[in-house]
Amino acid sequence: APVVVTTVAELRREIESATARVGRAGGDAAGDRSGVALVPTMGALHAGHLALVERAAELAEVVVVSIFVNPLQFTDPADLERYPRDLDADVRILTGRGADIVFAPEVGELYPHGDIATRITAGRVGGMFEGRSRPGHFDGVLTVVAKLLNAVGPQVVLFGEKDAQQVFLVTRMVAELNMPVRVEVVETVRDSDELALSSRNRFLDARERRAAVTLPHVLEAAESAADRGIDAVLAAAQSAAMGEQLVDLDYLAVVHPDTFLPVDDDYRGRARVVIAAKVGDTRLIDTTAIYLG
Ligand code: PAJ
Repeated sequence: APVVVTTVAELRREIESATARVGRAGGDAAGDRSGVALVPTMGALHAGHLALVERAAELAEVVVVSIFVNPLQFTDPADLERYPRDLDADVRILTGRGADIVFAPEVGELYPHGDIATRITAGRVGGMFEGRSRPGHFDGVLTVVAKLLNAVGPQVVLFGEKDAQQVFLVTRMVAELNMPVRVEVVETVRDSDELALSSRNRFLDARERRAAVTLPHVLEAAESAADRGIDAVLAAAQSAAMGEQLVDLDYLAVVHPDTFLPVDDDYRGRARVVIAAKVGDTRLIDTTAIYLG
């Protein structure tokens, strides 16, 4: 089982001794793994998170998983309140998966003054899509990710493609602030009906769960129309999004991979479809990469 630590001081000691152990053992002589990988999470771990941990173990000798429900990125107190928390279950799930250290701080460890005066802002893209429904969300994400990177000092940090806007903003922060870390992106893990795994799926009742597959269906419709250009993609996606009573679409957009801004009408090339919808009271998001012909 991984070692569980709750303070930054203990975390640094554990990383140091784990790194020294690997060094004494001659490092990863057979492979080319090196250094420390960080997988930031908010817990309630599922197979999507585990895919990040397993990839981290392929890339690095020491794998740190952080589990922290970050109040700074929640805009709805009820959402923060009901976010599932079960550290023992999370540690059990991580056992035998390649995680060496679990960093599970209390809120007071990362925000000792209650609030935090120094924050990272996510700029214009931070206020779009997810950030439009949840103002300040991405400032909170970037601030905690920066803190975690400073606490751990990993060579590689891993994120899931499902949260594509988060990946875009973290990658840009790392580049713009010259953070000495590589961002590795892992493909979305899906259930057998193609619904992307999410900690929030547990809030769906049976009817909502059936309705939720509208999201991957919209993405599949978009993929099928990609050859025919942006107008065809939006038309196909919009028609796939309609008709399901329980699904309340928040946004559906095709964005440029380099800017995360909606592509122009005549754009051809790599693009990303992003979708968010409320299914009952539960907000779900999904995404796919396409090539617009
Ligand atoms: P959380 O929602 O717990 O997600 C942790 C990581 O798991 C994220 O990088 C997310 O994209 C990835 N992930 C979630 N579901 C996935 C799936 N089905 N397939 C692949 N990867 C998946 O994202 C956050 O936490 C927070 O914003 C955080 C980055 C930890 C900052 O607080």
